[in-house]
Amino acid sequence: MPIKLRLTILFSLITAVIVTVGSILFLRQLSSGLQSSLISGLRTKGYILGQNMSGGSQSGPTRASSNHQVPSNLNGPDTNSAEVQLPGLPFSVAAPNSSVTAAQIINSNGTVLESFGVPASSPLLGVSQSNIAASHELIIKKYLNNNPTLLLAEPVTGSKGQVAVVGASLRKVDLSIKRVKVELTLFGALLVLVAGLVAWILSGAALAPVSKMRQQVEEIFELGQWDSLEIPRTKDEVAHLAKTLSELLRRLEGSISRQRGFVAVAGHELRTPLAILKGELELAQKPGRTESELRSAVAEALDETERIIRLSEHLLLLARKDEGDAIVTLEMKEMNPLLTRSIDDYANVAKVHGVALSLDCDQSIICETDESALRQIMANLLGNSLRYSPSGTVIEIACSYESDSVVLVVKDQGPGFPVDFLPLAFERFSRSDEHRDRAYGGAGLGLAIVKTLVEALNGKISASNRKSGGAQITIKFPIPDFIRGPN
Ligand SMILES: Nc1ncnc2c1ncn2[C@@H]1O[C@H](COP(=O)(O)OP(=O)(O)O)[C@@H](O)[C@H]1O
Ligand SMILES: [Mg+2]
Repeated sequence: MPIKLRLTILFSLITAVIVTVGSILFLRQLSSGLQSSLISGLRTKGYILGQNMSGGSQSGPTRASSNHQVPSNLNGPDTNSAEVQLPGLPFSVAAPNSSVTAAQIINSNGTVLESFGVPASSPLLGVSQSNIAASHELIIKKYLNNNPTLLLAEPVTGSKGQVAVVGASLRKVDLSIKRVKVELTLFGALLVLVAGLVAWILSGAALAPVSKMRQQVEEIFELGQWDSLEIPRTKDEVAHLAKTLSELLRRLEGSISRQRGFVAVAGHELRTPLAILKGELELAQKPGRTESELRSAVAEALDETERIIRLSEHLLLLARKDEGDAIVTLEMKEMNPLLTRSIDDYANVAKVHGVALSLDCDQSIICETDESALRQIMANLLGNSLRYSPSGTVIEIACSYESDSVVLVVKDQGPGFPVDFLPLAFERFSRSDEHRDRAYGGAGLGLAIVKTLVEALNGKISASNRKSGGAQITIKFPIPDFIRGPN
């Protein structure tokens, strides 16, 4: 269900609940206000009736009157205010007319002495009620001739247990309450309608920028115009959302274009050795090949196959890293044996090139690392240095503690990095112009792999050129806190 509709329904429901509860409370107050107004009117009339009777009774006991007319002095001008105003509420209702519709003087044994408005044969109070009313005021509700009537009974002053009962019809009170109920229902329904309408308009206005943004994002995906997301000038949540979304789209675009570039270059880099491999195999297949020609074709094919395997492994490792997979397992290791093993791997190749490999690493140096990752790092760095080092030079490998790091340096005496290539050295598929020649064989992934692995080992890497000539790669691994100890 759309948020707009949900908000509207919620707002209308809340308004309906508030209106209903408010109306119930209001009606209760109104009803009790009207009744107490009626009661205070009846109190006065009861007193007047009592006075009349105590005056008349001096000339002997009064017989029950057959005249059903209520004496006019009981229905004189009402002493109450004309309006019942309820505190805090917008309504005022006319005070009910406390005209007496029935009145009786009843003595302590329940005998009706005087009766007005009702036959004397129908006492307004029972005996027990008369007894109670002889000592204090009694208020009861009763149906007289199908008319809801409020009766007020009070002792007649100066008499022996005589009670004056006056009653007034509640019909007008009931009618007033009914009328107010209808008005409140209409008013409440209108209020709920208005609240719903206001919620609909307001939520529509508040959500308009969001749906506009959604449309824009859809268009961006359709048309590929990544920078076309408008950021509202308002400094509110919507503007923040637009900024975050825009940043997300920018990163997404970067990642998509990097991925596309990666796949394109990877495809291209794989195509070349595969085409060479195919060529060599086709040549070998031709009739009349000599044994030595066949041998050289197979050797070439093997060479290209190795290149394809290496490239595939590199691509796989980078893809795993991009997917967020863990590519290393950290363990505390002594660096000297690890580096010695890496150097041993290249001892023969170095000998063939006439290049010496030297290691300067104290036996005590330990580092949190991953053996196979470190070997791959060293293989790529030594492979590069050996490729570019002239015969008779030395490749130096040094490892030492330096403040809060274990520093590993590999430096050679080759031509070094072309200066403008240095910032790109660790980019994927980057090779300096001088080394694009296939004779050097690389796909430009070696240093990118090294950087990825170093970062996975929580280290940092940099490339530079030595003052004396030659390339230098510096890697810094952090020393774990438990080795560093408290500073
Ligand atoms: N020791 C070095 N001396 C000079 N240039 C280097 C050295 N190591 C790397 N490079 C340059 O950096 C480029 C990228 O190296 P790398 O990422 O290992 O790719 P690849 O070895 O596949 O060419 C190389 O093509 C080369 O131009
Ligand atoms: Mg390389």
